Amino acid sequence: MFDLSGRTALVTGAGQNAGAGIARALAAQGAAVAVNDLVPERAEAVSKEITAGGGTAVPIAFDVTDLAAVRDGVGRARAEFDRHIDILVHNAGIPADFGQGQFRTLDPSRWRAPVEINLFGAMNCLSTVIDEMCDAGWGRIVQISSGSARTGSDQGLSLYGAAKSGVEGFIRHVSQEVAPFGVTANTLALGLQTNAAGEHTAAIAARIPTRRLGTPEDVGAAAVYLASPEASWMTGQTLNLNGGSVTT
Ligand SMILES: NC(=O)c1ccc[n+]([C@@H]2O[C@H](COP(=O)([O-])OP(=O)(O)OC[C@H]3O[C@@H](n4cnc5c(N)ncnc54)[C@H](O)[C@@H]3O)[C@@H](O)[C@H]2O)c1
Repeated sequence: MFDLSGRTALVTGAGQNAGAGIARALAAQGAAVAVNDLVPERAEAVSKEITAGGGTAVPIAFDVTDLAAVRDGVGRARAEFDRHIDILVHNAGIPADFGQGQFRTLDPSRWRAPVEINLFGAMNCLSTVIDEMCDAGWGRIVQISSGSARTGSDQGLSLYGAAKSGVEGFIRHVSQEVAPFGVTANTLALGLQTNAAGEHTAAIAARIPTRRLGTPEDVGAAAVYLASPEASWMTGQTLNLNGGSVTT
């Protein structure tokens, strides 16, 4: 099950943490993986790690918010693999200027960054790969989201939550349009990950029913399922991956 041999994948923001976990997991199932990151050294390091372990990967650095750069990057991946992209995982979602803070304190100049990377980033990447998926009659879109898309908090995440909500809605609609072509599109909504934990880590983890934060391996395994041939009847959904912290 979950054999991805012969498939190619593009994972954005895959130079560290959850994205790296997704890239490693897809490669372990046999996919050839284009490891994207804004920071070339990060993409190179993860790509090298995968190839050193016997997998197939290439580093493809670009900025997901720049449509021309996305098209160029996907073209490079296609040339490297001599195949179109079968699996897109849009994981990049935390911009350098995160826009975190109580909304009343945020200058309007900070409103766009979370929307650019999450929503326009998804549109840029998806629009670049979707036609070839539909033409081939097989494709998998996996969008990484967050519990903050649907659960409000007072943690200064309003812009981020708005961007994640927007991209969840976008994926839901696109999923209906591409389903007849054998292409699925789902969202994986993550709870707090080990890398994001700060001084309150222990207290946060203690409130999660599984008593721990999420790991790159947790995210990679869920992404493999959504990308797999076996998940062909799973589309238009948001899968919560959060240790049970929200159970709607
Ligand atoms: N960390 C968490 O607790 C958490 C919780 C819920 C959801 N998420 C979501 O999971 C995903 C991954 O989070 P993470 O904590 O692993 O992120 P991270 O910031 O640790 O890593 C993301 C990578 O994306 C790259 N990146 C940033 N901007 C980019 C751009 N414009 N183009 C290409 N690459 C870019 C960064 O260089 C970085 O290497 C994000 O979508 C995030 O919103 C994370």
